[in-house]
Amino acid sequence: MEPLDTLGRPLRALRISVTDRCNFRCTYCMPKEVFGPDYPFLPREALLSFEEITRLVRVFAGLGVTKLRLTGGEPLMRRELSSLVRMLAAVPGIEDLALTTNGVLLPDQAEALRAAGLKRLTVSLDTLRPDRFRALSDTDLPLSRVLEGLVAAKAAGFSRLKLNCVLQRGVNEDEILDLAAFAREQGHSLRFIEFMDVGTTNGWRMESVVPAAEVHRRLHERWPLEPVDAPRGAVAREWRYRDGQGELGLIASVTAPFCRGCDRARLSADGHLYTCLFAGGGLDLKAFLRSGHGDADLASLLAFHWKRRDDHYSELRHGATPGLPKVEMSRIGG
Ligand code: GTP
Ligand code: 5AD
Ligand code: SF4
Ligand code: SF4
Repeated sequence: MEPLDTLGRPLRALRISVTDRCNFRCTYCMPKEVFGPDYPFLPREALLSFEEITRLVRVFAGLGVTKLRLTGGEPLMRRELSSLVRMLAAVPGIEDLALTTNGVLLPDQAEALRAAGLKRLTVSLDTLRPDRFRALSDTDLPLSRVLEGLVAAKAAGFSRLKLNCVLQRGVNEDEILDLAAFAREQGHSLRFIEFMDVGTTNGWRMESVVPAAEVHRRLHERWPLEPVDAPRGAVAREWRYRDGQGELGLIASVTAPFCRGCDRARLSADGHLYTCLFAGGGLDLKAFLRSGHGDADLASLLAFHWKRRDDHYSELRHGATPGLPKVEMSRIGG
């Protein structure tokens, strides 16, 4: 019984936020003025337990989910995360288990995550310049810790890391070639991401977006590229360097939306289900779980909810959307 939504899209991927906290304060995600010392982060009892997350994943797998990605905030700030990884890796039907992190805690955790069954790792890296890193992530943790995290991940056996770079006009666009050169040398797969209007606090403007087509042009001039076939529903368009030095992804969520193939749902750390990154509200699964319903009820609720889904925010962006209420990125992990 695999439900399709109103646009005929199946449910294949679940992005699970395990905490709303982060040790960075990236200006485009958790600006310090909003996420300051008094910010009301979720208390421990509001978070889904590992058992609750695993139970939900088992039911989601029954509806067609094969891909999981753990996110945050910063997922490695959730205590004992590798125990959750071990539990999720054992759920029948789960073929892909990945995690998106800022990298700083990888030196301590990469090995345990790998041993627990994590298959893929993506690390955010917006700049290679220490000063700019400090300004962008607004943390005292140095860039060198992120770079050590990359080394630790490789040593732990994550062979081909993905690196995520969110580009902003006039901020880090001058590093496109430097970042690509770094990724080519280190054998990582870099993805340039168009800056999106997620949440309500990042001051997004269309003029800040560096279109993927422009990034492609600049890279292609330096190192000729050729397209790689990507699976339907993929977020990134993949390119290969013709000289054989690896691959690269471009995520054009603003200039070339990919809603038509969107098979992703998102679970927030406090157990709400969002069917779009830009959703205004979520379905309270935690309350449902904690009120004693069985798995069959849960499956019916999820299938019913998915069948009603008609989200395609990125296709509407230029129309009626400005000013709509939207969930914050740190709640649902991008
Ligand atoms: P893969 O499984 O490796 O393809 O992962 P991914 O690219 O889906 O995950 P990642 O967490 O690395 O996200 C990369 C960028 O794509 C981030 O900026 C996300 O916010 C964005 N992204 C991921 N899924 C969606 C989506 O469904 N819609 C939109 N608009 N952006 C998305
Ligand atoms: N637009 C695009 N990507 C973003 N991310 C965080 N905020 C934004 C935004 N406004 C990225 C992070 C991380 C991924 C999960 O989402 O850098 O790599
Ligand atoms: Fe933390 Fe990632 Fe948000 Fe930066 S983008 S504040 S690292 S969750
Ligand atoms: Fe999916 Fe919403 Fe992103 Fe479109 S904007 S791809 S519907 S999450």
